[in-house]
This record gives sequence, C-alpha cells and structure tokens, in this order.
Amino acid sequence: MGAMKHPILIHPDPRLKKVCADVPDLSDDLRKLADDMLETMYDAPGIGLAAPQIGVLDRLIVLDCVKEEGEAPRPLVMFNPRIIAASDEQNVYEEGCLSIPDQYAEVTRPKIVQVEWMDQNGNAQSEEFDGLWATCVQHEIDHLDGKLFIDYLKPLKRQMITRKMQKLKRERARA
Ligand code: NI
Repeated sequence: MGAMKHPILIHPDPRLKKVCADVPDLSDDLRKLADDMLETMYDAPGIGLAAPQIGVLDRLIVLDCVKEEGEAPRPLVMFNPRIIAASDEQNVYEEGCLSIPDQYAEVTRPKIVQVEWMDQNGNAQSEEFDGLWATCVQHEIDHLDGKLFIDYLKPLKRQMITRKMQKLKRERARA
C-alpha cells in the first residue's frame, strides 16, 4: 500500500506535550509510518515532522530541508535521534511549526549539532548538521520531548499564539 497522509494535530493538544518512547525495534508498521510522515510533511508543505504531531508517541522524526528549486530532495528518517554534541556558536532562525500554522518567531539554538539516530533500515547513523538543517533537527527532536518552539518565547507572546490556535481549532471544529 502507498504512503498515506495523516491529519496533523494543532496546538494546544495534550499529545504534543508528552515525552515519547524510544523505538526498540523496527517493524514494517514503523517503516510505513515513516513513509506516511514524509508524505504528510511534503504535502503540508513542511521541512520537518515529528510522530507526536500525528498523535503517535514514538521517537521518530522526518525532515528534508532542501529548499533550492531543482535540487534533489533529501528525505531523512530518524528513529531515536539524539544530539550528542552542540556548538557554542548560536544561530537565530524564524521558526514555524505545522502544529502552529501561520505563526513564526525567532528562536536561538546551537548553530551546529552532531546527531545520532537509527535509519529506516535499522542502521546506526551519525551526522553533523549546520544552519537550517541543525535548527530543524533540534526543533523536531524537541517535539519528542513535548517541547514546542513557542516554549522558547516570552510567556505573553506564547499565550497570544496559543489563544490564536484555540480560536483556529474552534473555527475548524465548526466548519
Ligand atoms: Ni514543529
């Protein structure tokens, strides 16, 4: 069966605040889930998606930060991703999130991170990410710990965005 899109949860949702569990062993179901997540991410469109955003509380993220027109896509699937080193040098990016549609804010994070994960074939991988890739992978791993980019903002700004999302959810529920 081909990849299937899943609905993306919108903040606030208790499932977006949970710490997700390690994936002990790969299975065909988990590989299918990763394919579904890529399909869901590309369709949105977005550059990253974490399993809890579709209501699955497993440590699984997908990302593809290739943005240049004509450049080959680079879908990455990461089970149990872990940041094992981070640069002192910081980077500021205007971040957004598929669970917080149309809201953007600057977040400061380490510019370079070394990440270890298990790929879709069960192989251990390790890679250094820089720039947008580094920001994206940190943002997605945060999701696995129940953390959203708005948690880095001042409380007032965070509350303002949360109220907008509550309104959006009410409107969608009525539609
Ligand atoms: Ni996000």
